[in-house]
Amino acid sequence: MKTAITELFNIQHPIIQGGMHFVGFAELAAAVSNAGGLGIITGLTQRTPELLAKEIAKCHDMTDKPFGVNLTFLPSFTAPPYPEYIAAIREGGIKAVETAGRSPEQYMPALKAAGIKVIHKCTSVRHSLKAEQIGCDAVSVDGFECGGHPGEDDMPNMILLPRAAEELKIPFVASGGMADARSLVAALAMGAQGMNMGTRFIATKEAPVHDNVKQALVAASELDTRLIMRAIRNTERVLKNPAVDRLIEIEREKGARLKIEDIHDQVAGVYPKVMIDGDMNAGAWSCGMVVGLIHDIPTVKELIDRIMSEAEQLIRGRLTGFLDADTRKVA
Ligand SMILES: Cc1cc2nc3c(=O)[nH]c(=O)nc-3n(C[C@H](O)[C@H](O)[C@H](O)COP(=O)(O)O)c2cc1C
Repeated sequence: MKTAITELFNIQHPIIQGGMHFVGFAELAAAVSNAGGLGIITGLTQRTPELLAKEIAKCHDMTDKPFGVNLTFLPSFTAPPYPEYIAAIREGGIKAVETAGRSPEQYMPALKAAGIKVIHKCTSVRHSLKAEQIGCDAVSVDGFECGGHPGEDDMPNMILLPRAAEELKIPFVASGGMADARSLVAALAMGAQGMNMGTRFIATKEAPVHDNVKQALVAASELDTRLIMRAIRNTERVLKNPAVDRLIEIEREKGARLKIEDIHDQVAGVYPKVMIDGDMNAGAWSCGMVVGLIHDIPTVKELIDRIMSEAEQLIRGRLTGFLDADTRKVA
């Protein structure tokens, strides 16, 4: 399949693996890129720019296909040294960066000077337009369903994607709630040029996370995610567990007076405990509603091949089938 996104990133299939904290290591990024998608290393999971440079080098050893790096600009107690991270990305020969959180405007000159294509993840049309205006090459439009930070507008992709298509000139991928061929075909129908998946890629053989995480995703239903941190305008969609229940109880008690310190125990330092140690109740970790559509743990290649072959069947069979049946009736 050829779309503006496959052309932009020089990939075979219009499927991107979104940056994921303590999931987006070289193993997963290389598996996605080797399967024809765009794999992405999560920049800030590497504690220093030097470690990111090593992770990039490791990924180059595992694939000769293009892969990208995610740079997330989220509120943090001490800001990471972004210029040094960008230097590691540039020197690592990376040609695609996924930015997220706040606008990457400040860093666009450095990224563009290095010939890097920038895809910015946005949860609204206005932020997508801003991304276009500051020179981003593409947007990842992240609907309310998504795992991670869906923003504060609560706009599901059924509305957000066609609205983005109405307004944007640069290509965009659909993100949030994407799991299979149905997601891809629907996203294309709504004007996207591909899709970005997060949660679905965690439940794959190559995802370098504890098996407990994969099993939890297979076991969970679409009813098992919760929104947290709304009161501090840092809303995150996470998988429900006892620690999240406690967090929500604290949020109820504190109301609008909630401060990040109040929920420190449930959100700080959680990812290594969950993803590496498999301690499923260590705290809150991102997960999309799409978890209800995850029923197996295939290899990344099996997943991507299945999506692409079923997408073709859907388009050539089911969709044109409706038209052919209608033509026959008229004839
Ligand atoms: C466990 C997990 C960690 C994530 N960490 C990040 C991150 O560090 N930076 C980022 O930009 N997005 C992060 N995301 C969001 C994903 O890149 C992607 O946008 C999102 O998962 C898409 O929604 P989906 O889960 O429904 O596919 C994370 C998502 C998950 C599930």
